[in-house]
Amino acid sequence: MKKICIQGTGSYLPERIVPNSYFAKILDTSDEWIFSRTGIRERRMVLPGQSLSDIATPACENALEMAGLSPKDLDLIIVGTSTADMTSPSAGCILQYRLGAKNAVAFDVNAACPGFIYGLTVAQKFMQDGSYRHTLVVGGEIISHRIDYQDRATCVLFGDGAGAVVLGHPDVAGDGDILSLEIHSDGDLWELLNVPGGGSRNPISIPMIEAGLHYIKMQGNEVFKHAVRCMRDAARKAMKSGGITAHQIDWFIPHQANIRIMEAVAKQLDIPMDKVIVTVHKYGNTSVGTIPTALDEAVRSGQIQKGDLVLASSFGAGFTWGAALFRF
Ligand code: ACO
Repeated sequence: MKKICIQGTGSYLPERIVPNSYFAKILDTSDEWIFSRTGIRERRMVLPGQSLSDIATPACENALEMAGLSPKDLDLIIVGTSTADMTSPSAGCILQYRLGAKNAVAFDVNAACPGFIYGLTVAQKFMQDGSYRHTLVVGGEIISHRIDYQDRATCVLFGDGAGAVVLGHPDVAGDGDILSLEIHSDGDLWELLNVPGGGSRNPISIPMIEAGLHYIKMQGNEVFKHAVRCMRDAARKAMKSGGITAHQIDWFIPHQANIRIMEAVAKQLDIPMDKVIVTVHKYGNTSVGTIPTALDEAVRSGQIQKGDLVLASSFGAGFTWGAALFRF
């Protein structure tokens, strides 16, 4: 089996900043409630007319530049998203076109928030026999189109953003290594978090839209409990398969949904908060975008350095969950 490493990271967050005070003006909520319950102060949202590929393309270009590769070097593009530019074709094909990645095969993985970890796992399967050399794994979401601005329990939580990594095979010692990947799902729990409209069960229609079925529906309390347990268990499994203990971890990147979930998971894993990468205060929950954008920011700010041992763990609609352990 050939080793796989991360050769470049990139991210893009929309320029428009939406502070908690925006919601306090239109709903019965407050900055104090939102910050104390979630850790969120503000989030980024696209402007009208901007699509997923508008934010994912610069993220991918940044990752390719860091890797020192051109789009034509890519064999494979995997995009974790549930908010592609169009229902068809895939976000992967649109990104392939926008990047000019003529030699790649492109497709999407719809696995909600852990879609980036799912994407890494699929890439590993393609790359470990050496037949695919360079893969772009992208996680991005325009989730601001899926939130009901009259539902204070969900609309304050989310934001838009995209991140990407370029995977390759290490050439020399010190190039990094993906040590273990864990993915899981439990479809029995789909009702706790979903977007019921716009698919084949509730196709697009005026009554469907009037009923607000195209918006995220979530039982927040239930999701919270499952998220903590599943993110913790996946992280433990990834560390066990990688032969690593929590004390050896340099950086932990949990899914950035709620600071209280992140703190609970870190505590249960015995990882101190000063080793936890936190971006939720400024970007909110960008769904599948949280881990690759947080990774890129931590790399570019010099927090995560070459050789550091990084653990990531995520949870989302499905339910789906997973963890990744890698040496950067
Ligand atoms: N402002 C003011 N009050 C609010 C707001 C708000 N924005 N939202 C809810 N409330 C009220 C509720 O109506 C409720 O009022 P009541 O007691 O009169 O009925 C009260 O606050 C308490 O509500 P809870 O739902 O119990 O609040 P909780 O502390 O659980 O926080 C939250 C809610 C933030 C949604 C939390 O449950 C959570 O973060 N859950 C996990 C969500 C999550 O992580 N989702 C994403 C995972 S998957 C993905 O990323 C797509």
